[in-house]
Formats: sequence, structure tokens, C-alpha cells
Amino acid sequence: MESQDLVQNAEFPFKPADFRTIARLLQAEAGIALGDNKANLVYSRLAKRLRALKLRTFRDYCTLLEGPQGAAELGEMIAALTTNVTRFFREPHHFDHLRTQLMPALITAARKGQRIRFWSSACSSGQEAYSIAMTVLSVMPDAARHDVKIIATDIDPKMIACAEAGLYAEAAMDSVPALLRSRWFVIGDNGQHQVGDDLRAILSFRRLNLIGSWPLAGQFQAIFCRNVVIYFDQETQARLWERMVPALAAEGALYIGHSERITGPAASALRHDGITTYRLTAYASAPA
Ligand SMILES: C[S@@+](CC[C@H](N)C(=O)[O-])C[C@H]1O[C@@H](n2cnc3c(N)ncnc32)[C@H](O)[C@@H]1O
Repeated sequence: MESQDLVQNAEFPFKPADFRTIARLLQAEAGIALGDNKANLVYSRLAKRLRALKLRTFRDYCTLLEGPQGAAELGEMIAALTTNVTRFFREPHHFDHLRTQLMPALITAARKGQRIRFWSSACSSGQEAYSIAMTVLSVMPDAARHDVKIIATDIDPKMIACAEAGLYAEAAMDSVPALLRSRWFVIGDNGQHQVGDDLRAILSFRRLNLIGSWPLAGQFQAIFCRNVVIYFDQETQARLWERMVPALAAEGALYIGHSERITGPAASALRHDGITTYRLTAYASAPA
């Protein structure tokens, strides 16, 4: 069985041991757990890497990944195996909650000189972060004149580059109401929608692996950690939620994806405050 190919009549031999190596590396590097039923997906996502690298078998690919030159290819592998699906104002109740439940107090605090931070922690191509920016600026047009910032991070540097470019095709704009499009975007020569400078003024992007160290200063009034932990195993999810607790400021909000739930020790530090929305309980609040 071990010598049998996982994908029949395929261009590149792909053995169970190769699948296990890839799954182990992906879990160790990005926290992502691959079920045994994902062999076809792994094959189809990585076959183009083998072609580009002119390799003949998945064994050769695993040797490259585990060898001295493996680090760069590991990034390519993670990028190929992660899902980047996102859209503007995805799960709109989170932006309603931010606007109506958080922003009134945060506007007052920011205008008194308090530091306000939001974190889009798996931002993909940036739509989540720009949606936060549109929400904040819609009720606080002077946000850029105060210490208000959105930090947007993702494990994939290509996604960060794409998010920073802030250039979106017409199809990606479906969930942006016409008024917001004309207020915050400009249409370029190629018909694409370019994020305007006002949105950029309160945003910064950088690469960050959620299962690695977080070189982020201070605490966040809101963290968006949506549609990423579904790819992690239970233990990694619980550990991540536990790390999010001290990253939240007093009364801070944690927004999670529609099919995700808070597990482990974090569950007792967070109270439910709406659909897949959690707030830090008063006693759990402590500086990081
Ligand atoms: C499905 S997208 C979610 C985008 C956005 N948060 C949303 O809900 O629309 C998942 C993103 O998580 C990122 N990701 C996967 N593993 C990660 C990790 N260990 N650390 C940070 N980002 C990760 C992927 O690169 C991808 O861009």
C-alpha cells in the first residue's frame, strides 16, 4: 500500500509517505491540519510547483522542502495549500457590531488621546481590513488625526502584497455599497477599483504567522480572527484563542468566523456578545 500512488495515472508519483511529510511540515509551520482525504487537493495544488521546479516526483519535492534550501519553498507550499477566499463586509454583523457597540466609546477615547488598535489577523487580500477601515471612518472621519490604526497581517507575503496594493476587480466589489465605492475607491485606467489614500492612512500591513511569535505592541480594542482557525487542529485552535485573550484591551471584541467557536481556557475569559462575537470579561483584562 505504501508504494501505491495516492493519485492514479498522475503526472507525478505521489506516495503516502510524501503526503505525510507535506502534512507534517504544513502543521508545524502554519498550524494547518490536513485530513487523509486531502491527497487529491494537495496533489492538484502542488503539481504546478513541481512543474515550475522541474522535479519528477513528490519524493524529490519533499527532499527539497526538508533540505537546506527548503525554507523558501515552504512558504510557496503554504501559500499553495491555504485558502484565501474573502470578500468585503463578509459576515456583515461584525461590522455592524463594531460600528454600533464599540465605536461610540472608542471615538470618545481616541479624541481624548487614547491609543486605539484593530487587528485583522488573517487578512488575505485585504478586504477584511479595508472593511474595518470603512466602518471606522464612516463614524469617525477624523480617525487619521488621532492614534487610531488597523494592523492587518497574514502568513502569506503574496497576500500581504496584494492587500497593500489595494486593487480590486469589479467582481470583488459586489458587497461594497455604491456610496462606499465612490467615497473610498478610485477607478483606475484598467477599470479596477483602487483603494484611496484616506483608507490607507489608518492601515498597515505585515506578515505574521498566527502560530509563531506576534511582534505586535500593546493591546487591541478589536481582533478579527475569522475563517482561519477552521484549518487548524483543536489543540492549535484552543492555544490561539488563549493567546488572543491578553492581546485584547478591556472590553475588547473578538470576531470569529461563522463556523468557528471559542474552545479551551479562553472560553471562560470571553463572553458572547452577538453572532460569533465575543467580548473580554472585565476580570480577564490584563496588559500583555
Ligand atoms: C479564508 S482566508 C480568511 C480571510 C478573512 N479573514 C475572511 O474571513 O474573509 C484565510 C487566510 O488565513 C491565512 N492563514 C493561514 N494560516 C495562517 C497562519 N498560521 N497565520 C496567519 N495567517 C494564516 C491564509 O493565508 C489566508 O489568507
